[in-house]
Amino acid sequence: MMRASIDSGTAVTVLGLGAMGRALAVALVEGGHPTTVWNRSPGRTEGLPEGAAVAATAGDAVSASPLVVTCLLDHAAVHEVLDPVADRLAGRALVNVTTTTPTQASELAAWAAECGGDYLDGGIMATPDMIGNRGATILYSGAVGVLDDHRALLDLWGESSYFGPDAGVASLWDLALLSGMYLMFAGFLHGAAMVGSEGVPAQEFAVRATSFLGAMTGAFAGIADVLDTADYAGEGHQSLEFSDLGDLLQASRDQGVSTELIAPVQALIERQIAAGHGHEAFERIYEEIRSSPT
Ligand SMILES: NC(=O)c1ccc[n+]([C@@H]2O[C@H](COP(=O)([O-])OP(=O)(O)OC[C@H]3O[C@@H](n4cnc5c(N)ncnc54)[C@H](OP(=O)(O)O)[C@@H]3O)[C@@H](O)[C@H]2O)c1
Repeated sequence: MMRASIDSGTAVTVLGLGAMGRALAVALVEGGHPTTVWNRSPGRTEGLPEGAAVAATAGDAVSASPLVVTCLLDHAAVHEVLDPVADRLAGRALVNVTTTTPTQASELAAWAAECGGDYLDGGIMATPDMIGNRGATILYSGAVGVLDDHRALLDLWGESSYFGPDAGVASLWDLALLSGMYLMFAGFLHGAAMVGSEGVPAQEFAVRATSFLGAMTGAFAGIADVLDTADYAGEGHQSLEFSDLGDLLQASRDQGVSTELIAPVQALIERQIAAGHGHEAFERIYEEIRSSPT
């Protein structure tokens, strides 16, 4: 059974006032929480809303609140900031929304437990301007009690989604979604370079790409069915042979555009065709992706 959120008015500390940490801190102050902030470089604390208390040291900041949020550059920065003040974490809840790998998140959870603190890992699926607005989602895993106790506070940032007690899982989802995003953006850049070679402004390409790629996301569920059933030979799928990217590669070369992004996908397709699967679905390249030793 879910515990009732006990966080109305809970004091909270935010360590790290970069673009994201600042947005998180502002949402907390505006949400009525006594908020203590700390940043390595002092300039970042300027212009915060009235009510944010600036701590002189990371140790003072941690001691100020039962709930401590870290939003720093990376895993190394989290340790750099928290290791010297580890003794102050006992009995506190640590919510780390710094992007880390799953292994790093699990390490931090074990480390926090050694310090006597509860650890909740968060993956922010939003940009700073989205924090507190519709569309922002934060993926969490780790100590569910932290989420249950502070759900209303954490919901000030966006929709909170919980992925279970293994602290690394939220980060796995975060990085998996970012993989899709970066490859989509890279694909957009490739297409922009192709039409750009004929003087088409990227803005003009963006209009068509938004419409076309947006419509293509409707195919995810059908693709997922193929992956989940591993039924690559079923009716109605686009075959590997049909998916051959030869024309796309040739047109890119003809336009003087690099094929570095597209060539690896074509290599996966060609290997599957060479293995005798040409009539099977394009999705079959998933078998190579998921079993790669690299
Ligand atoms: N921005 C986004 O759209 C976004 C979206 C999702 C997730 N995130 C994640 O949120 C985290 C913060 O991102 P951000 O956009 O706020 O980055 P940022 O603007 O570059 O800020 C980085 C923050 O980390 C601090 N920092 C870096 N190295 C440090 C160290 N060794 N010791 C102490 N503090 C250190 C910086 O302090 P100084 O001011 O002293 O340099 C600054 O407060 C990252 O893990 C990022 O992946 C960001």
